[in-house]
Amino acid sequence: MAEAQRIPDKHADSSVELAPLIAARWSPRALDPAAEVTDSQLRALLEAARWAPSYGNTQPARYLLGRRGEDTFDRIHGVLNSGNKVWTAGAAVLLLGAVLRRNAKGEIPYAEYGLGLASENLVLQAVAEGLVAHQMSGFDPEAARTAFDLPAEVTPLVVIAVGKPGDPSYLDERRRERELAPRTRLPLGEIAYTERWGRAAF
Ligand SMILES: Cc1cc2nc3c(=O)[nH]c(=O)nc-3n(C[C@H](O)[C@H](O)[C@H](O)COP(=O)(O)O)c2cc1C
Repeated sequence: MAEAQRIPDKHADSSVELAPLIAARWSPRALDPAAEVTDSQLRALLEAARWAPSYGNTQPARYLLGRRGEDTFDRIHGVLNSGNKVWTAGAAVLLLGAVLRRNAKGEIPYAEYGLGLASENLVLQAVAEGLVAHQMSGFDPEAARTAFDLPAEVTPLVVIAVGKPGDPSYLDERRRERELAPRTRLPLGEIAYTERWGRAAF
């Protein structure tokens, strides 16, 4: 089957047109196990994260990354839960995202918020590079701490799999169904209010 037919169209079904990168981003599990990410693509992902906003420009986001075949990749892969281990073997790159909770001035406010913003920048840059990126909290943070000898002021929060879309038929049945199912969201009126809490703005 042609590639275009195998890979489902998962564009956001929005009531108005969105910026193309936002509309195209989704979290696939079927990844091409032969795909590679170039040095400049990987650099662009981390640059995008670097240029994210943060509280007082405190920049609390940190990443450890490895390519498939490298020891760092294997160590990140090794701390994932069993469900995530299966499909992430096809990733070209795995990144462990962590927050720096304290700097020389003390506690960094909104540090987790900062990692979230940086990671979404990274993910959207991946889409711009023709790649896909899938964030995961399903990993053992203490195992990650041990595997990379993380300092006490650093908390690992997310693993991000980056790669190219692959053939969903390689997934087990449950994941294949999820991969091919339409993406859903709450209605806009349920997340945006006006005048009082709960009164739909749209
Ligand atoms: C903080 C966070 C943790 C997540 N953890 C996992 C995970 O452990 N495994 C997984 O397959 N997907 C994980 N996801 C992906 C979400 O399930 C996905 O973003 C959500 O279902 C919406 O789908 P979409 O990204 O395709 O729009 C996570 C996403 C976020 C933001």
